[in-house]
Amino acid sequence: MEANALTANAAAAQLDVERVRGEFPALHQQVHGKPLVYLDSAASAQKPSAVIEAVDHYYRHDHANVHRGVHALSERATNAYEGGREAARRFLNAESVSEIVFVRGATEGINLVAQSYGRPRLGVGDEVLITEMEHHSNIVPWQLLCEQTGATLKWVPIDDRGELLPDEYQRLLSDKTRIVAMTHVSNALGTIVPVHDMVVQAHAAGAVVVIDGAQAVPHVDVDVRAIDADFYTFSGHKVYGPTGIGILYGKHALLEAMPPYQGGGEMIKYVSLERTVYNDLPYKFEAGTPNIAGAVGLGAALQYVKGYGLDAIAGHEHRVLEYARQRAESTPGMKLIGTAAHKASILSFEIDGIHPHDIGTVLDHEGVAVRTGHHCAMPVMQHFGVPATARASLAMYNTQAEIDALFAGIDKVKEWFN
Ligand code: ALA
Repeated sequence: MEANALTANAAAAQLDVERVRGEFPALHQQVHGKPLVYLDSAASAQKPSAVIEAVDHYYRHDHANVHRGVHALSERATNAYEGGREAARRFLNAESVSEIVFVRGATEGINLVAQSYGRPRLGVGDEVLITEMEHHSNIVPWQLLCEQTGATLKWVPIDDRGELLPDEYQRLLSDKTRIVAMTHVSNALGTIVPVHDMVVQAHAAGAVVVIDGAQAVPHVDVDVRAIDADFYTFSGHKVYGPTGIGILYGKHALLEAMPPYQGGGEMIKYVSLERTVYNDLPYKFEAGTPNIAGAVGLGAALQYVKGYGLDAIAGHEHRVLEYARQRAESTPGMKLIGTAAHKASILSFEIDGIHPHDIGTVLDHEGVAVRTGHHCAMPVMQHFGVPATARASLAMYNTQAEIDALFAGIDKVKEWFN
């Protein structure tokens, strides 16, 4: 079965959302005198106490530099940092921690692959294949790579529901395709991409596949070995962890064959003025003092998510999203952008005659936080012929009552502008 469809387990699983909400301190506040309704988790998710306390504990008790000292605090910091890596390995079901590289976020993960995997290998006549629904972070690094190497960038188009055109994908793949880079879940549309099938096709054409999982890991149970991803990257802050930390998973043999992304301390075994021997994986890709507290917080976040289980989270979010979709469809003047059959988290919309920024501003006054703009996915906006959308995005802590608050806010927006 395609790994990203809502599984029977997810459809049946229940989440104790009131308990979850109790674990997120930031949700319990008023904004402009109204209870906060946080519907902007695709931009950045709120943090549970488990994450806040893990970072707090680390700084209060264990902080020192990692892999460097023989003293007790350095050893504790190293264990805490490497614990975060092991949590990420388990979360993605990677075979080995040597395949788990700490990066600043998905953006850095993709740039690392473009520069360390792509740049030495690609040249004129080679092709990189992306999709029309990528975030800028999965477009611009490939444009840069193509400028640097003479390779050509191609993209798989989407239809008006926001789904990739499978025949076009098959047509665009060829023996010239060296890299396929695609999102797992679109941040602007919510489309869940059938990555497993697309990886099979890419591999048949001889390409390696890079998957941007930033919007997927909070909502979809990801198993990099089942997907057979060559590279898979995500950002910690969208999955309830800290900002400035993320993961790049890469198959060991691929990472092993790649040169370092950055030079500095930590990524070396031996340096003389004439030459350097690089460190083993994954440290070869971790130059400089890393974001230790970020890794600790990320480990806590991934354990938190696993504790509830992606089935329960996906099932709950699916029900709330479906409720929101039905309400949107019965709201005059409201148009959804992104109506794929398989979606996660995202309700992007327009309201006739009202600019998305005005929608966002009025909603904010009602305590409802949504994102407005192009969502760093300008080609998606170009496809739909809109400059921007308003976007509500769900996380495990959102409820149907909050969707009611969103639609009460939308009524206010319409009163203001009509
Ligand atoms: N990529 C983030 C979003 O979709 C910032 O909002």
